[in-house]
Amino acid sequence: MPPAVREFPDAAALAHAAARRFVAEAAQAAAARGRFAVALSGGSSPSRLYELLASQAYRGQVDWARVHVFWGDERCVPPDHADSSFRLAHAALLEHVPLPEENVHRIAGEAEPKRAADDYDRELRSFFRGQAGFDLILLGLGADGHTASLFPESPALLEAERWAVAVEHTRPPPPLVTRITLTLPVINAAQLIVFLVVGESKAERLRAVLAGADLPAARVRPATGRLIWLTDFAARAGPAG
Ligand code: 6PG
Repeated sequence: MPPAVREFPDAAALAHAAARRFVAEAAQAAAARGRFAVALSGGSSPSRLYELLASQAYRGQVDWARVHVFWGDERCVPPDHADSSFRLAHAALLEHVPLPEENVHRIAGEAEPKRAADDYDRELRSFFRGQAGFDLILLGLGADGHTASLFPESPALLEAERWAVAVEHTRPPPPLVTRITLTLPVINAAQLIVFLVVGESKAERLRAVLAGADLPAARVRPATGRLIWLTDFAARAGPAG
């Protein structure tokens, strides 16, 4: 099934649409499975969404006690480091909502990477215990076509068994630190995958990915779930003129 692409005038309108989708999916998953397991994305695109979900406008619409928060990837830095994806989500969202601490499944960016990947892989398998996969995975699109921390030509793209792996990251885009990332098998097992793509700098890659170019983000094809691209006009139109 071709991915659905929804365009919005600007990043604010896109963030509101993403927040409404988050609220709806959380309610549906909690009713159907008693929990809403979501993998958050790092980067700058989702930060407005996180702030909206923490705001009066949306916070009360989510049963946070049933929400389990994971990450699609993490930089191998301590959780209070400026590059930490956990820190970004914690400051914008997690510290503002009544999410039980045990429902925060943080990737141990401060640990030795292979050990952190093994621990996260084990935690994922224990949590899902053969049930349906993530209810929602939020992803961004890098200027090189990467998503999560699945970069072009990375061996991690070929991982068919493990759900989480450590990846070296030595060329742009920054930060040039080792990462822990979900792999395609667990991403493509999600019920719903939503890409958030903002800004004209992504337009060329977005066009290429949607046209089926062999880029990591184009390998996100849910087996039975839904795939939705939320983009702003700038990301669809590209540089003005
Ligand atoms: C990360 C993200 C990464 C991000 C893209 C887009 O840890 O950096 O997981 O995949 O989503 O690089 O980043 P922006 O939203 O900042 O453009």
